[in-house]
Amino acid sequence: MSGPFVLRRSAGLKIVLCFSAALLASCQTVHPIWPAAPPRAAVDVALEARVRSIVSSMTLEQKVGQMTQPNIHSVTPDDIRRYYIGSVLNGGGAWPGEKMQAGVEDWLKLSDAFYSASMSTDMKVKVPVIWGTDAVHGHNNVYGATLFPHNIGLGAANDPELIERIGRATAAQVRSTGITWTFAPTLAVVQNPRWGRTYESYSSDPTLVRTYGEAMVRGLQGQLGTPASALATAKHWLGDGGTLHGKDQGETRTTEADLARRHGAGYYGALRADVQTVMVSYSSFTDTATGKRWGKMHGNQHLIDGVLKRRLGFNGIVVSDWNGIEQVPGCTKWRCPQAINAGIDLVMVPDDWKQFIQSTVDDVRAGRIPMSRIDDAVSRIIRVKLRSGLFDSSPATGPRPGPESLNSPQVRLLAREAVRKSLVLLKNDGGVLPLRRDGKILVVGKGADSLPMQAGGWSLTWQGDNTKTSDYPNADTVLAAMRKALGKHSVDYSADGAGVNIGRYSAIVLVAAEKPYAEGAGDIGFPAPLRHSVRYPEDLAALNRVSGKGVPVVTILFSGRPLSANDLINRSDAFVAGWLPGTEGLGIADLLIADANGRAAFDFTGRLPFDWPAGDCLPQQGGIQFPRGYGLSLAGTRNLGRLPEPVPAVACPPESR
Ligand code: GLC
Repeated sequence: MSGPFVLRRSAGLKIVLCFSAALLASCQTVHPIWPAAPPRAAVDVALEARVRSIVSSMTLEQKVGQMTQPNIHSVTPDDIRRYYIGSVLNGGGAWPGEKMQAGVEDWLKLSDAFYSASMSTDMKVKVPVIWGTDAVHGHNNVYGATLFPHNIGLGAANDPELIERIGRATAAQVRSTGITWTFAPTLAVVQNPRWGRTYESYSSDPTLVRTYGEAMVRGLQGQLGTPASALATAKHWLGDGGTLHGKDQGETRTTEADLARRHGAGYYGALRADVQTVMVSYSSFTDTATGKRWGKMHGNQHLIDGVLKRRLGFNGIVVSDWNGIEQVPGCTKWRCPQAINAGIDLVMVPDDWKQFIQSTVDDVRAGRIPMSRIDDAVSRIIRVKLRSGLFDSSPATGPRPGPESLNSPQVRLLAREAVRKSLVLLKNDGGVLPLRRDGKILVVGKGADSLPMQAGGWSLTWQGDNTKTSDYPNADTVLAAMRKALGKHSVDYSADGAGVNIGRYSAIVLVAAEKPYAEGAGDIGFPAPLRHSVRYPEDLAALNRVSGKGVPVVTILFSGRPLSANDLINRSDAFVAGWLPGTEGLGIADLLIADANGRAAFDFTGRLPFDWPAGDCLPQQGGIQFPRGYGLSLAGTRNLGRLPEPVPAVACPPESR
């Protein structure tokens, strides 16, 4: 170190470490809580000059139009042109022409209509519209698309390389429909499985979420500006997985240091992969170290502008969540200067977008929003669009992956591999798995022949409901997969196991399942017990009909989270946590059924991404039955034996998270 070493305490907690003049450029603000900004790509001088030139040519109305993101159902291409709309989205269950079975050509046609409209405005420099979608486990809004396991199952796979391949395949699916942006990955580090979005989280382990965040963004974005690249979204900033009781859109009560270390982990990975957009969380933050109630994240200037943008150096787009701005005190769906001043650049205002434009223009003219903030927001939007290649050609008519990207044999094999790697074997007493091929199998349970339960939420519709198995033409339920693997005549089915002569079968495969849900609709409200059979008694009833009859029972649980299931596990010889595997049921058959030589074609490699509860309440309260990282393989599995079956908890004790 040469020359004087200068240590200056700047305002607040930051300490500026500046070395000798020669190294002054190496000044690093060492913040006691937040890490230094990850290494960023060198500034693209030519691109930045283009950004400045375009922004300086825009009127205020054009700038605010760029910051507006309506849902496709509430805007026409002519609206895009007249109001200079910068972005659209299709919310869960919003399809072209409101047709669930809309084909790739329908998606491309609408995309090109929006794009052409945006390029026919009276702006000095035309700015193309960008379309965002929730492709969160494959291109899940699109009829016929291959759906991957939801994130919780991918977390069980513990395979970052697989995640990157899934990201690449998902990007190709998205781009094949003329869309260039997906609102994924969710980087929540979930602390309470009551949350209806637990399945969107990879794990409760921040280190895994960080590694996966980087891998998924690299897979999705690939080489920015190329035809197979889709913009990624790190979401939801910040602390969405830490709310009290796992309440959706609830209050995260923790220290800022924990927010940084635990809940911020995924973002450090995503930023290292140059993620281009970040979506703000509906949750609120209360700092338990200082007692400060920061309130809703959509109005948190310290964490959005101060930390994400300035401290961590994020120079892409911060997008609000669906009507998220209305949750900021004093705001509505269409007016929130506080949110824009906090650092939100693009506002997801699905329906009230005309009022949003007018009220925001008014707020700027009245000085409630500085023009510098508007210019920064629009610069970020233009910057990301330039980086994405949108200015170069229409995503609908330019070079792009073909329609086979949605469900080609290669994509289905990748999803099938992901299913295999996601399954976690919790019990295999007597080594009943893998099952012999020469027997006759009875498949039981409502979830065994239900793609909606197998895929979960965010599948064709927002909640994954109001759909049926036939709405998934390129998919296999567990029943279909078992019949493909063993032959139709070797596999019978009973939804509830009633009236069946069990003795006719060499083994029984029972699928217990949650019904599909998304977001708050899936919350298990405190203090309700987490026991699966309390919410779905029909699965235990079916198991009681078929177990204990001298025929081995293999139970698979389709769930969006770990659940209290000792009663199901005790009535099963083998028990598999299946999570929400998506369309490729054959990945399950691959692990359940032996090869022609009676040996396992594949082994179980999945490991729990969350602690599995022993009792009906949180593991922290009722104990951990299986810790995060647990999972059996087929070799040398010792018997689990009988687990304690707690008397059903009527209500759980108070929770700290
Ligand atoms: C939802 C979700 C968010 C999603 C957005 C658009 O409310 O919170 O994850 O990307 O709306 O569908």
